[in-house]
Amino acid sequence: MSETVLDVRDLEAGYEPGVPIVRGASITVRKSEIVVVLGPNGAGKSSFIKAIAGLVPITGGTVLLDGKDITAAPAHTMVRLGLAFVPQTENIFQLMSVEDNLKVACGILERREIPARIDEMYAAFPDLMRQRRTAAGNLSGGQRQMLAVARALIVHPKVLVLDEPSAGLSPKFVSMVFEMLAGIRKSGVTILLVEQNAKAALAIGDRAYVLVEGKDRHEGIASELWNDPVVAELYLGQRPSHASKGGVA
Ligand SMILES: Nc1ncnc2c1ncn2[C@@H]1O[C@H](COP(=O)(O)OP(=O)(O)OP(=O)(O)O)[C@@H](O)[C@H]1O
Ligand SMILES: [Mg+2]
Repeated sequence: MSETVLDVRDLEAGYEPGVPIVRGASITVRKSEIVVVLGPNGAGKSSFIKAIAGLVPITGGTVLLDGKDITAAPAHTMVRLGLAFVPQTENIFQLMSVEDNLKVACGILERREIPARIDEMYAAFPDLMRQRRTAAGNLSGGQRQMLAVARALIVHPKVLVLDEPSAGLSPKFVSMVFEMLAGIRKSGVTILLVEQNAKAALAIGDRAYVLVEGKDRHEGIASELWNDPVVAELYLGQRPSHASKGGVA
């Protein structure tokens, strides 16, 4: 079995004292895997990965990155520790050019490495190369997500953590984002992904967890989970399932 990159044990977290949102959630992400976290609206998926990234106060449990305890690490130290988080929104600087967005993401790199690393991102994402002088706010939805991901990848993270990268995108851009993530994994990057778009996420994922009421309730091989009756039940009709066949909807 390949090595564990991210090991989250019994995590508890919340925004206000005494109001836990994440209630004892555990997941493991191994090297070069795509692990997907699914769950109904309000299950605490975003809160869970934000807590891992140091953005929601943790009240219990542990987060280990490459065996190192990062549970109490502040958000601004995460990139240096090797965890790159791409939030669902506000993940780029809209008024800055594409190139400046990449430059300011290079904070922890040696100054002399930066031009070559930006060129590597352009080689991986040719759309960004073509639009290098464009203000990021003028990119298409899909290209914005591409830029947000490139900004996270540029510092060689040990794990890339994404919150709903396909949210709000038209179907064409949704496929583009999932193809991009599959390509990034092929290059050896480890990915933890929260998605509403369960079918597409399970198609590119290796393993998945279903989070319900702040706790991991089910786990499995991604390709098998779409047809798993337990998943259908946990979603309680929130996704198209066999149950809807011939039904009113
Ligand atoms: N900034 C916040 N302050 C207080 N409570 C919050 C905050 N953000 C989320 N919550 C609460 O935490 C719970 C879980 O929300 P969260 O956004 O983590 O769920 P989610 O699974 O990501 O949902 P969605 O599928 O809609 O993205 C909800 O009850 C929500 O109201
Ligand atoms: Mg969310």
